[in-house]
Amino acid sequence: MEFNASENSKAATLRENVKHFVAVLSGKGGVGKTTVSVNLATALSESGYNVGLLDLDIHGPDVVRMLGGNALPSVGEDERMIPAQVLPNLKALSISMLVEEGKPIIWRGPLKHSAIKQFLEDTDWGKLDYLLFDLPPGTGDEALSLFQTLGKADGVIIVTTPQKVALDDVRRAISFVSTMNQRVLGIVENMSYMRCKDDIIYPFGKGGADILSTEFDVPLLARIPMDPKALELLDEGKPVTLYYRESEIDLSFRALAENVVKEVEKQEK
Ligand SMILES: Nc1ncnc2c1ncn2[C@@H]1O[C@H](COP(=O)(O)OP(=O)(O)OP(=O)(O)O)[C@@H](O)[C@H]1O
Ligand SMILES: [Mg+2]
Repeated sequence: MEFNASENSKAATLRENVKHFVAVLSGKGGVGKTTVSVNLATALSESGYNVGLLDLDIHGPDVVRMLGGNALPSVGEDERMIPAQVLPNLKALSISMLVEEGKPIIWRGPLKHSAIKQFLEDTDWGKLDYLLFDLPPGTGDEALSLFQTLGKADGVIIVTTPQKVALDDVRRAISFVSTMNQRVLGIVENMSYMRCKDDIIYPFGKGGADILSTEFDVPLLARIPMDPKALELLDEGKPVTLYYRESEIDLSFRALAENVVKEVEKQEK
């Protein structure tokens, strides 16, 4: 793939070590970015890829809560941070691993920018196939800092829920992605439907992601069902791809992982 030339040698080192960079973004809060990032990370790592997951939601860092475990980052001999080894081939890093639990993080843009630079450039991620970024809702400082520091990512996954009223927020997010000179890898429709015994219900309506996929000519990477048991598991730090195997939601995350790999590789060719 083609990269923006970076004058920064630290960013260049990161690019030498990490094959693919994928960010997870949405126009709105609470649509399931962290759920998607965590389960995509575990599904990819279960498929044998070396994966890193960087929580870029500085004010609402939820990755560790959903990912579980109590692994912590460390500092290497070269003074660089080493992310927490969560699974044999999954590393993660979040501001919540570095600050006292329950304390709010009151940082303005420049401080957030330098933290994000450090997470990327002064962190020893080692050799990775995929480095995933869980972003906060909307198009604020964190996403700007990420793309400024990193340059071109392989793609951005847009997470949405199916209701049509959410479409304008998603359109803004997609337009932000192209303004940043990034590419939308595809759309994930979360809380797409819910299975109740033999019935399927659509608590958030239907059709939103299809409209976007056609309008922007980008693939619909997955429809993730809404599943109350998954919510409980995620609250306990148990990713569904590890603790709820063969469930419909597990299979939908595995399909998402396959489609992400397919899209990234298609682009590489
Ligand atoms: N498919 C699903 N089925 C059931 N619960 C879900 C599903 N997706 C997300 N949730 C739950 O919805 C809540 C919000 O999800 P999540 O934190 O992933 O959203 P987010 O977009 O990252 O939110 P924020 O904008 O605050 O970062 C969480 O409690 C999560 O467990
Ligand atoms: Mg989140």
